[in-house]
Amino acid sequence: MSRLVTVSNRVALPSQLQAAQGGLAVGLRSALEESGGIWFGWDGGVEQQIVGPRTPRVQESNGVKYATLRLSREEYDRYYLGYANQVLWPLFHYRMSFIHCDNRRLEGYWDVNRLFADHLPPLLVGDEVIWIHDYHFIPLGQLLRERGVQAPIGYFLHTPFPPWDVFRALPGHADLLAALCRYDLVGFQTAIDRDNFLDCLKHFEPRLDPPPRVETFPIGIDVDQVAREAQRGYNSQQGRRLQQSLRDRRLMIGVDRLDYSKGLGNRFESYEALLEGHSEHRGDVVFLQIAPVSRGDVPEYEEIRHHLEYLAGHINGRYAEYDWIPLRYLNRGFHRSNILGFLARSDVGLVTPMRDGMNLVAKEFVAAQDPGNPGALVLSRFAGAAHELEGAVLVNPYNVDEMVAAMHQALTMPLNERRERWQQMIEALRQQDIHRWRSDFLEALHDAHRARTSEAL
Ligand code: F6P
Repeated sequence: MSRLVTVSNRVALPSQLQAAQGGLAVGLRSALEESGGIWFGWDGGVEQQIVGPRTPRVQESNGVKYATLRLSREEYDRYYLGYANQVLWPLFHYRMSFIHCDNRRLEGYWDVNRLFADHLPPLLVGDEVIWIHDYHFIPLGQLLRERGVQAPIGYFLHTPFPPWDVFRALPGHADLLAALCRYDLVGFQTAIDRDNFLDCLKHFEPRLDPPPRVETFPIGIDVDQVAREAQRGYNSQQGRRLQQSLRDRRLMIGVDRLDYSKGLGNRFESYEALLEGHSEHRGDVVFLQIAPVSRGDVPEYEEIRHHLEYLAGHINGRYAEYDWIPLRYLNRGFHRSNILGFLARSDVGLVTPMRDGMNLVAKEFVAAQDPGNPGALVLSRFAGAAHELEGAVLVNPYNVDEMVAAMHQALTMPLNERRERWQQMIEALRQQDIHRWRSDFLEALHDAHRARTSEAL
């Protein structure tokens, strides 16, 4: 078996594994352990200035090498805060007015990709397969090829990929498309993302030959592991305290990074409209929104935070009673098993992003439910998960009335309907779980590499 080398901006270091067993960590760790692999990326630290030669810090755990590099303040500003999160992120989420680009950011992005490309080859000994993740590292495959790396190299985009007419507004888009074409395999979450990319290639001159293999690999979860953790969280002290605090009220829950793509403003406004239009829910429902602060140095993230604080205060000011608070808005993270326990104790899951690559919270909500009495899921049509979870109440988050109707439908859904819908969703999750995602991608990568190298002979 080839050694798996994964590259992603964030690395779930061994010390963080317990707390951060989310999507990618669960999916990759076992394959990394089986193959004695390497996980390479940023260590999450920033230094004012980096003096002297830089070498990756390597830690080993269960046969896996975790190799990480630190960034200087300037690199962090230009690459991470700049091009990755103020150019690519908004553009890939169809929020063009949030793009702030200049050449320094564009160059900073490529410089950090070159930095990673310089430091990966010395860690390779031969017979590796390299899997690069997400929008932070689009050029990395090409840069590794330029440094003589012959291994299969695949790329998976966790976010959406926009249509050509949006994509071509991206400063530096032609170089990024060319870079994507240097991979053996390029993977997307959904058919829409894949087709958008293929359409971009049609418009792109000069055409590249041979083109990469392009496929969809919807990321999943480890259903049994999530169900077990949810049960643990359900029975934990925090799970029980949540229940006591609710008394007999129903719980609607949202769990999202505090990001403008997640549609939190529309969700809060819709909740207010629900309380206004359906007075029977007043005093009877609690909406718990957990939203840990994310990318707080980017102005748009600071603005959305202020806006949500205003909305939360406004809703509670308008509707709270001396013995009931309609909205509990928490700007902090929790241990994963607590989050899953909170999902398990919820009657309704609200996952209503304006645009999302997949959204694993939607999948975790389903896996956390009690099969005998499952909660209902309200899910945005613009989350990748909507392509698989037909049993959810699918909603257009841009339409407040539709959101209100969906929340009301979910809150009043009869048990037999909740069971039927849940059955469809859990089957879909089992069919396309995280292990299948990983093995499908790696198998396709080996095939694509074999086909490309034999074509080149
Ligand atoms: O989903 C996209 C993503 O960038 C992930 O790669 C990452 O784990 C998550 O969002 C959190 O964002 P950040 O790494 O910027 O804190």
